[in-house]
Amino acid sequence: MRLDVFTQIPHAFAWLTEQRPLAGILGGELELRLFNYRDTTPLRAGQVDDEPYGGGAGMVLRVDVVAAALDAVYGDAPSHRIVALSPQGRQLTQAVVEELALEPHVTLLSSRFEGFDERIVQHLCSDAISIGPYVLSGGELPAMVLLDAVARRLPGALAEGSGEHESFSAQLEGGLEYPHYTRPAEFRGWTVPDVLLSGDHGRVDTWRHEQSRGRIVPS
Ligand SMILES: C[S@@+](CC[C@H](N)C(=O)[O-])C[C@H]1O[C@@H](n2cnc3c(N)ncnc32)[C@H](O)[C@@H]1O
Repeated sequence: MRLDVFTQIPHAFAWLTEQRPLAGILGGELELRLFNYRDTTPLRAGQVDDEPYGGGAGMVLRVDVVAAALDAVYGDAPSHRIVALSPQGRQLTQAVVEELALEPHVTLLSSRFEGFDERIVQHLCSDAISIGPYVLSGGELPAMVLLDAVARRLPGALAEGSGEHESFSAQLEGGLEYPHYTRPAEFRGWTVPDVLLSGDHGRVDTWRHEQSRGRIVPS
């Protein structure tokens, strides 16, 4: 998969790319490219945003700047998915992550300050995704959230089996994962459920599925 991120802060992604699972699949299953709008802006002095028409606080990412950045990388009319990261987009869920992980090529556009000129989302993007119903200061963290979530679904990203019985997976019928315990078996009188110490894999599986079905996301 090729994943391109357009941002004003490409260096923000450095730590994520040094960590697993990304580090393990970069250059293999995942090709990540970071582009800075400032490098291709047609405006002087690296300008990428401007004051909003109609007045008001904050700066808005310009449509001509984003169009120039996309043209410089893809030429005109790219045919792959171009996603604006926006609190006004479709909410990111595990189902959306799985859908994106199947795409051969995805571009993420991030913005800062007041956000995108609306024409960017309308005319240059295929869709918009939000990582949750709250407002962050920029699209870099949302891009990294999406990048990490997608990367761990790609072949070779995780140790075999470790991504299968996770929260929201089909194996757990979309539910939450069962609880985990490790040594010590008792700490301050807090014990580990006997079934997990029984060595009976059938009982352990049944217990885990029951626990998973009984768990609900707190509101
Ligand atoms: C301060 S926000 C702009 C918020 C916008 N003025 C609004 O009220 O909807 C700046 C940028 O951060 C990113 N961003 C902030 N919150 C986000 C979220 N929940 N999901 C995805 N991107 C987000 C987007 O790229 C957004 O354009």
